[in-house]
Amino acid sequence: MRILVTGGAGFVGSQYVRTLLDGAYQGYENAEITVLDLLTYAGRRTNLPVADRRLTFVQGDIGDRGLLLDLLPGHDAVVHFAAESHVDRSLEDASPFTTTNVLGTQTLLECCRRLGIGRIVQVSTDEVYGTIAEGSWSEEHPLLPNSPYAASKAAADLLARAYHRSYGLPVVVTRCTNNYGPYQHVEKVIPRFVTNLLTDQPVPLYGDGLNVREWLHVADHCRGVQLALEKGREGEIYHFGGGVELTNRELTALLVELCGASWDAVRLVTDRKGHDRRYCLDDGKARRELGYAPQVSFESGLAATVSWYQDNRAWWAERMRPGRENVGSTVAVPR
Ligand code: NAD
Ligand code: TYD
Repeated sequence: MRILVTGGAGFVGSQYVRTLLDGAYQGYENAEITVLDLLTYAGRRTNLPVADRRLTFVQGDIGDRGLLLDLLPGHDAVVHFAAESHVDRSLEDASPFTTTNVLGTQTLLECCRRLGIGRIVQVSTDEVYGTIAEGSWSEEHPLLPNSPYAASKAAADLLARAYHRSYGLPVVVTRCTNNYGPYQHVEKVIPRFVTNLLTDQPVPLYGDGLNVREWLHVADHCRGVQLALEKGREGEIYHFGGGVELTNRELTALLVELCGASWDAVRLVTDRKGHDRRYCLDDGKARRELGYAPQVSFESGLAATVSWYQDNRAWWAERMRPGRENVGSTVAVPR
């Protein structure tokens, strides 16, 4: 079994590759992996083992058709994580999101079709649905993305579906909730807040801080992706949720406590444009059909994540860019 993993040097992709190489996915202990990753600001070669005979690393672009046509033959499956992934960046400049997430995904799907790749997992997101005031989304809910990031992921997700419908491409689509865990870039809320708290900098809470996210440990997300690869029905969509919903204020309070910091560091700052109020997935289908169930408790997963950032300062220190990663303070937030 040879698997090509795109975006395998990023947060979620590297977790998937490390886990697979560790032999934690039964039946895949001898699988060989090719990671294709452009190593943008978000990817790091050192997120992966440096020397493992089962791992081949290729620095390259998923939008490079020639490269894909050279690289893909001999692979049994593709797990497609590569993407521009941060909403705030997409609000500053949507073009890399369109290039990588839409055109890059289409190029990858087309090359898989031409070469007859036997299995593809398209890693998508709950953000394709927009925002939901109450209840949870099923896989049939219409897509109403609000940010350029979400719109580009929705386009990729629908292209995968279209390649299945039109050409019978054996693709499975996964959509999951917000991930947390080690190796996540400091631009995302948990690493940003933890690293700011650990360096005595203000914590920028957008808007009123009452937006709600559902949290999923990255190891559980990867377990879901692996189940989709092994057992997902072609052309189907599967949700992976963590089941833990928190307002950003509630999350911040937990992080302040875990970091041994003071709530005085927390500041309300100008809201994100088009900020989705709440995401929530119904993952009953994945539980019934794939046997999916998250295994990491939020309490222990969050504490371990904070410890990882405490223990790996060199990994994140160089990524903190004043003026961007550390937004200046505006308003103190009463507890
Ligand atoms: P990330 O930004 O940490 O990693 C993305 C990786 O893709 C990086 O290694 C980057 O170098 C690589 N990449 C970017 N453009 C590329 C290109 N053109 N060609 C090849 N490689 C390229 O993102 P992540 O958080 O690990 O997310 C991985 C996937 O999971 C994405 O598709 C994302 O939409 C999806 N997802 C993530 C979350 C989450 O909370 N992190 C939630 C739902 C879905
Ligand atoms: P983020 O980690 O960017 O993920 P997403 O936008 O994909 O959900 O943000 C998670 C939540 O945290 C979201 O409601 C925006 C909020 N947030 C802040 O309040 N401050 C910040 O500095 C960041 C990065 C996010």
